[in-house]
Amino acid sequence: MKTDGGSDAAKRRAGERAAEEIENGFVVGLGTGSTTAHAIRAIGRAIDDGLDIRGIPTSFQARQLALAVGIPLTSLDTVDGIDLAIDGADRVVDAPDATAHGALIKGGGAAHAREKLVDTAADRFVVVADPSKLTDRLERSVPVEVLPDAHTVVADRLAELGGEATLRAAEQKDGPVVTDNGNLVLDCEFGPIDDPDGLATRLSGLPGVVEHGLFVGVADATYVGTDDGVDVRR
Ligand code: 5RP
Repeated sequence: MKTDGGSDAAKRRAGERAAEEIENGFVVGLGTGSTTAHAIRAIGRAIDDGLDIRGIPTSFQARQLALAVGIPLTSLDTVDGIDLAIDGADRVVDAPDATAHGALIKGGGAAHAREKLVDTAADRFVVVADPSKLTDRLERSVPVEVLPDAHTVVADRLAELGGEATLRAAEQKDGPVVTDNGNLVLDCEFGPIDDPDGLATRLSGLPGVVEHGLFVGVADATYVGTDDGVDVRR
């Protein structure tokens, strides 16, 4: 699993702390990535000890891990709601006085379409992160999932919005990354993003865009694993 440079011990603390929020009977959104994987493993251990929950995975990767650790799975269209979603992030704005406080960039694992669906459907969405993810201003490229034959047209539209798009390439083989939904990902550099909400609205309005990785006003709290504990940011 991708680790993006943060300490695995910090990720584990964040993930395990979030898993402690789960109560019997919960439907839980299972995010994607190396930090959430710690939460998924902790949920599996709690199930071995008698916890009774159902999980909704946000990706094939999360599904495989959840099955491996014994989490019973369900699907979004067969439940009344999601009690709690736990998910990682590539960047989290940590600037309590800024309007963008709590905004996220996600999609490092190309799972952001399903992640946004599940995370926004949850009654409560907890982000799990290590300190390397915190920033006072979003500057990282924004993943944009696009229909396969729309990638050049969308790249042109992104340029009109001031972004420079690169088709994400697969690491293990020649060719592009293909998402679980059969689409492609453009990673788009905008430089510093001072108005993530406005940019999110513009990206959502582009024909051919399936989903983008800006999550604004979605997270309820961020659990940040530290050297010796967990910091909860709201
Ligand atoms: C996948 C994501 C991940 O949550 C994000 O990339 C963080 O991953 P990690 O916990 O491995 O650093 O958005 O699409």
